[in-house]
Amino acid sequence: MNTDAEPATQAIVPANFLRLVLTGFMGAGKTTVGRLLAARLGWDFLDLDAYIESRTGLAVPSIFAAHGEAHFRQLESQALASALARSNIVLALGGGTPEILTNRLLLEQTPATATIFLDAPFATLIDRCTMQAITPAPNSGTRVLPRQARPLLADRAAAEARFLARRPIYRRLARVTIDTTALTTEETIAALLVSLNEPPSPRG
Ligand code: S3P
Repeated sequence: MNTDAEPATQAIVPANFLRLVLTGFMGAGKTTVGRLLAARLGWDFLDLDAYIESRTGLAVPSIFAAHGEAHFRQLESQALASALARSNIVLALGGGTPEILTNRLLLEQTPATATIFLDAPFATLIDRCTMQAITPAPNSGTRVLPRQARPLLADRAAAEARFLARRPIYRRLARVTIDTTALTTEETIAALLVSLNEPPSPRG
């Protein structure tokens, strides 16, 4: 059964939002959740890393290896600005996108844009990345990266330091935070749609 083709029974996004942006660390499920959410809504889906790759003709690890992280961040900001010009779109950010002030301003100042933080503990995220590396979902259409294709996971301690530094940034940026630790993809989508229909919670 192709669950992507199921009707949008409860998928109601408040009418004032034309862009839903998924943020969170590597392994948060941004691409998996985003693709299914977009299908449910009948919206387009865009994975920012895949968009960078299509714009440059280079894989993300190759950009890191050949040009370094700073150059990747420039390409990422340009791709983000371009992606945010679109409407009726679910956009999955890269894990590091919100670290850059320009990107946060773009996200905050683009009208009708709601950012959703998919949260989970570091150990859970690393487990998910490892699982993705060894068991790519069959026929899911999901862009699954092998672990070695995430250059910033090579050093686990450094990755955890990044996670701890980024978590408050993700939280402050997002209109809603969903703790995905015990949730399936379906449950995550249901939870974020409920949260989007509630008044925004205080950030912190
Ligand atoms: C990065 C996360 C990756 C990708 C790049 C850098 C990061 O995206 O943008 O490897 O800085 O956390 P995912 O979060 O989609 O894996």
